[in-house]
Amino acid sequence: MSLWEGHLEDIDDDVMKFSQSFGIDKRLYREDIECSIAHVKMLGKQKIIKNSEEIIDELKKILSDIESGKLKLDLLCEDIHTFIEETLTKRLGNVGKRIHTARSRNDQVAVDLKLYIKKQIREISNLVCSLIGTISNIAKKNINVLMPSYTHLQRAQPSSFSHHILAYAFMFKRDLTRLKNCLENMNECPLGACACTGTSYPIDRFFVSDELGFSKPTDNSIDSVSDRDFALELLSSISIVMMHLSRFSEEIILWSSWEFKFISLSDSYCTGSSIMPQKKNPDMAELIRGKTGKVYGNLFAMLTIMKGLPLSYNRDMQEDKEQIFESIDTVKDCLIIFERMIKTMKINPENMEKFLKEGFVNATDCADYLAKKEIPFRDAYKVTGSIVNLCISKNKTLEELDLQDYKKSSDLFEEDIFDTINFENCVKNRTSYGSPKKSSILNQIKIINSFTKKYQI
Ligand code: ARG
Repeated sequence: MSLWEGHLEDIDDDVMKFSQSFGIDKRLYREDIECSIAHVKMLGKQKIIKNSEEIIDELKKILSDIESGKLKLDLLCEDIHTFIEETLTKRLGNVGKRIHTARSRNDQVAVDLKLYIKKQIREISNLVCSLIGTISNIAKKNINVLMPSYTHLQRAQPSSFSHHILAYAFMFKRDLTRLKNCLENMNECPLGACACTGTSYPIDRFFVSDELGFSKPTDNSIDSVSDRDFALELLSSISIVMMHLSRFSEEIILWSSWEFKFISLSDSYCTGSSIMPQKKNPDMAELIRGKTGKVYGNLFAMLTIMKGLPLSYNRDMQEDKEQIFESIDTVKDCLIIFERMIKTMKINPENMEKFLKEGFVNATDCADYLAKKEIPFRDAYKVTGSIVNLCISKNKTLEELDLQDYKKSSDLFEEDIFDTINFENCVKNRTSYGSPKKSSILNQIKIINSFTKKYQI
């Protein structure tokens, strides 16, 4: 039986199969029932229907029957909204048929999706908070580990491991703000917009909005059923989380290579090769990097679905859920696996510090030494450049060069140049706000921790 029986006859079976979304939107059963309960409560309160209590009790039973497995979500049904309504009608007869008074699946699907996304934003945010906590713990535990900072993947300046990974904590902190903004922006209830222009029944949209935990009803009924901005904001926030996870994964992949060996991943988060017995591959990090592409694809699919749609609801919009669900599932899985992977990785400080010593990462400090003695920085830069060349020709590091050699380039050099270019001192002397100096790192950890502690969504 189809919903439009009485008007359209003989729908082709293949058309039913082609157009159904039940296989995908059945996961919205809880939200659909929550939304129906609020709607029926309101219809009863407004004296639009009788028997509201009976309908609500049956809806609650349907929910518990689905959760206990007694009621299977496996019929051939157009969508979850139809399934719940049909089940109710099967159980209550004519009384059940009243549930669809003063609503449409167009406002119903919008509110179901919003309810689902609101819950998911909370879950994703909790996972992001937990990951930030793990990063901050690792940073605190390894606070004395120095490593070079890179630009263009070339060793650039002395820094610390904590400084490097805390950069990611700040990225994830912004993700939390984005997710919260997304939730706040979508916190208006579309139910009662009906098909597109509202209804002549005396419904109370403010009551329904309160019941469902929204801040207020949406203001324009056409916008209410046409809008998927909330899904796009979610998909774009998730894409940015994935981009951060992917960049971090890329570094984990590099750092765990024989070339770097900055870290060693736990065997539980690696796989071997079917042919090369020596291999230990960082597959989890690679998969997260790969899945990021899929999540971006979902954002693009959704943007493209929406771009040419005239107002208000169009069936194209049914194609939204696959991308939304896949991206939500993916980001949650990735956050969980990524956090466990970094929690169990071993840090190899010796290798990070070894890399500091090659590559002249203290050259900026040498130039600054001269510039602080009143010669213009650009000249100090040139002098230091020639000293680096001298080192290369003598196969020496800046620390190994004699003071006489320094003096040949500039008589401003004194014995204290060696203190200045000492790597530990280079980091200690970076006093600017946000730098790798220990007190600055402790401050960064404090900022991160107090943000996540206060973060409420
Ligand atoms: N299953 C549809 C969706 O997910 C909702 C139904 C609206 N259908 C309609 N023909 N107006 O968007």
